Formats: sequence, structure tokens, C-alpha cells
Amino acid sequence: TWTMKSFVESSIEALRDRVGRDRVLCGLSGGVDSSVVAVLLHKAIGDQLQCIFVNNGLLRKGEAETVERVFRDHFEINLVVVDATDQFLGRLQGVTDPEQKRKIIGNLFIEVFEKEAAKLEGTRYLAQGTLYPDVIESVSFKGPSATIKTHHNVGGLPERMKLELIEPLRELFKDEVRMVGRELGLPERIIMRHPFPGPGLAIRIIGEVTPERLRILGEADAIVLEELEAANWYDRVWQAFAVLLPVRSVGVMGDERTYEQVVALRAVESVDAMTADWARMPYQLMGRISNRIINEVAGVNRVVYDISSKPPSTIEWE
Ligand code: XMP
Repeated sequence: TWTMKSFVESSIEALRDRVGRDRVLCGLSGGVDSSVVAVLLHKAIGDQLQCIFVNNGLLRKGEAETVERVFRDHFEINLVVVDATDQFLGRLQGVTDPEQKRKIIGNLFIEVFEKEAAKLEGTRYLAQGTLYPDVIESVSFKGPSATIKTHHNVGGLPERMKLELIEPLRELFKDEVRMVGRELGLPERIIMRHPFPGPGLAIRIIGEVTPERLRILGEADAIVLEELEAANWYDRVWQAFAVLLPVRSVGVMGDERTYEQVVALRAVESVDAMTADWARMPYQLMGRISNRIINEVAGVNRVVYDISSKPPSTIEWE
């Protein structure tokens, strides 16, 4: 549209003016906001932009590969990918408390990011995908989700690293960011991506995060998304995902009694995540997801559907 086109053009000009010949660092998460920031900056300053993507080992299946393909191969953006899986899993060993998980993951992210950034000399700016609602939230009362669960953010990072912040999306709402992304030619898959929490699959594995439990949840979650897309339901829900429960249940396979893990399926409708209602997905679709998970994911013999709304429940289980 005309407004988005002029937003993009004036932003590019303003970014060029501000950055001059300096270098800008940008943390890519794979989400919509940081993706739009990266591509916008790349249009403005090209190779003066350096992106860093931290793979914490808690991502959805295929996520790290998608980021490399889209940003490095397609957009030809300078991208460093740090595989910190072992460090994250190491520090999460034996940890079961949700807030403890968030703290560990948030702190380690900063550590890894800082270490990587220190290798890049002559950087003056840090670019972030802050949106207008984030700006409002940080100066007024925090919403329930912000106070009940400490959200993973990199608040103190720029000061500690002595970098100046660049926030080209600070005046935009989410739907406007999506329009800017389209204007910039980002793939629809990234533009329409569901929100994904910073602590990733760690807060969807109730109890301890182990490589084996990560494998189970990763496979189950991929099936949920595949079937949602195949049924054209992905864009109709706000978020949909699998949760691995810390219980075992009895089942039967052939003549054998099984005693295995339980996956909960969560799908919600929402406009801003402050409130949410469970999605009335077709029984057929739920049935297909359940059958596939139980047949294809070793270690799972039961799938349940979460029919609670927010409030009083939350979207995530942790
Ligand atoms: P809840 O579970 O509080 O979630 O209803 C509301 C929205 O926030 C996301 N969420 C998080 N995002 N770090 C994030 O970046 C977190 O620690 C976190 N916890 C929840 C959740 O996916 C939903 O979109």
C-alpha cells in the first residue's frame, strides 16, 4: 500500500542518515519483528549490518535452517549463527521451575550474544524490533502476562555493551509490521508466523528439559503445525502447539501394555494474547493430529486437548 511504501522509503532514508558509515548489530530470532528490522536495515545500509542468530536448541523443528535459508541465502544478509544448544541444555539440567527456566535461558542468551558481538569490532548500534505496544507497556502498568511471567527480553543489553539502540518499528502495531514485511518481500510464512516464546520449547516441556523430551516435543509439535497447515487452520488461530506433560499413562499396543508420555494439544484464538479462547478445531483435524503423534512419535501413547481459556488459564502451560 501507499502508506507502507512511504514508511519503508522514509525509514530507509532516516536509517542511512543516522548510521552513516558505522556498523549495526541485530539479533535475529526468526520472528516477524526482528525479521522485518533486519531486512529494512539491510535495504538501508547493506553490509554494514551484521545479524546474529543464537540457536538455543529449544527451537521448533527446522527453525534454524529456515533462518539461514531466508536471511543468508535469499536476502544475502551478513549472518552469524551460533549453535549454543549444549550450553543451554547443560544449564537447564535438573531445572523444573518455570521462572527458573526463563531466567537461565534469558541470562545465557545475553552471555552468548555478548560474546559473539565482542568479536565484531567497530559496531556502534544495536537494532531491535521494539513495537509501539512494547513502548507503551514499558512506561505504563504492565499487563498480566508481563507481570505474571517474566518475559524474556534483552533490556539491559545495549547499555552493557555500550551500543546505541535503533528501533525502526517503535511507532508500529503488529499488523503494520506485517504490512511493512510484505512490502519488503519477506515470505508469507515468516510474516504470518505465530508468536513463539523466547524460552522456546523449554516452557512447553513441563518438568525437566532433557534431549529425549526435546526430541519428543519437537516431533509432536512439527506434526501439529503440518496438519494445521494442511487443513488451512494455521492462519485461523493465534497460536497452536504441543505441550509435553510430566505424567505417564497406560496404553495398549498389540498385546502389550504400554506406559508412556502424554502430549497436550493447545490451540487458541486471541487478538493480543491478553485474553484467549480455546480454538474450536474440527474433530477430524484433532483426530488426525492425535493419530499421527501416537503412531509416529516414539514414547507417546496419549494426546489430550486443552479446553481452557485465558483468564484464568494462560496460553502457555508454564
Ligand atoms: P501467556 O502464557 O502468559 O502468554 O498467556 C501470553 C503470550 O506471551 C507468550 N509468552 C512468552 N513470550 N517469553 C516470550 O517471549 C516468555 O517467557 C513468554 N511466556 C509467554 C506466549 O507464547 C503468548 O503468546
